[in-house]
Amino acid sequence: MHMTPERWENTSLYLDAVFGSLGEPIDEQLAGLMDRAEAAGLPPIAVSAEVGRLLMVLAAMVSGPGGGRAVEVGTLGGYSGLWLARGLGEGVLDEGGRLLTIEAEPHHAAFARAEFEAAGFGEGGSAGRIEVREGEGLAVLPGLVEELGPGSCDLVFLDAIKTEYRGYAEHAAVLLRPGGLLVADNCLGSSDWWVTDAAGEHESSDAIDAFDRGIATTASGFLACCLANRQGVVVARKL
Ligand SMILES: C[S@@+](CC[C@H](N)C(=O)[O-])C[C@H]1O[C@@H](n2cnc3c(N)ncnc32)[C@H](O)[C@@H]1O
Repeated sequence: MHMTPERWENTSLYLDAVFGSLGEPIDEQLAGLMDRAEAAGLPPIAVSAEVGRLLMVLAAMVSGPGGGRAVEVGTLGGYSGLWLARGLGEGVLDEGGRLLTIEAEPHHAAFARAEFEAAGFGEGGSAGRIEVREGEGLAVLPGLVEELGPGSCDLVFLDAIKTEYRGYAEHAAVLLRPGGLLVADNCLGSSDWWVTDAAGEHESSDAIDAFDRGIATTASGFLACCLANRQGVVVARKL
């Protein structure tokens, strides 16, 4: 059976419908988040529901009974953050777990904070499980390493500037405990570039190719693979 373009498209639609949007723990708030985000002027560049579910499952796999701790670089409207938070608390809103998510754009950060609040994960709420840090990933991460300490996190998710992934990953390698997961979106491509494009055609393509080739060897300190769903998600376990 070959992957024709039509079958690839149908596969994406199937995965999104069945593993993305169906079933627990999707609620109306999560389902409507990106529509509200677009209405508020945020770009439609969140992960798909299918990738959201992957993030939730991975977060649940590395979280202990008291809940896990994760860091995300690139909040946008909070869509991937809510999926992650559900996994960190094993799908239950108030069962521990902490997500610290970094966003450079104040309008995006404010929108996401309101969504987290409405979902019961707000900084002021009783659950208090998601905190948005405003700033550039490469500027915020060194302070986080100091604040949280080495080996303090179960999962780090990268989804901001593609040319900065290698820099984010250096900090993630310190933040993660052995066995923790580094997860990165767009490790095959995005709307206007693909990793197999000729070298020099697009700086994100070149940077992601370098990131992929680095993390693919255990010399990186990770045992990694790349899932070819949608735009490619690297999943790497810290050695
Ligand atoms: C692809 S979107 C993130 C999507 C989000 N993870 C989701 O799936 O719902 C990238 C986000 O990174 C933010 N961003 C851009 N440059 C950044 C930087 N240097 N540090 C942190 N965030 C940045 C953008 O404003 C945008 O909101």
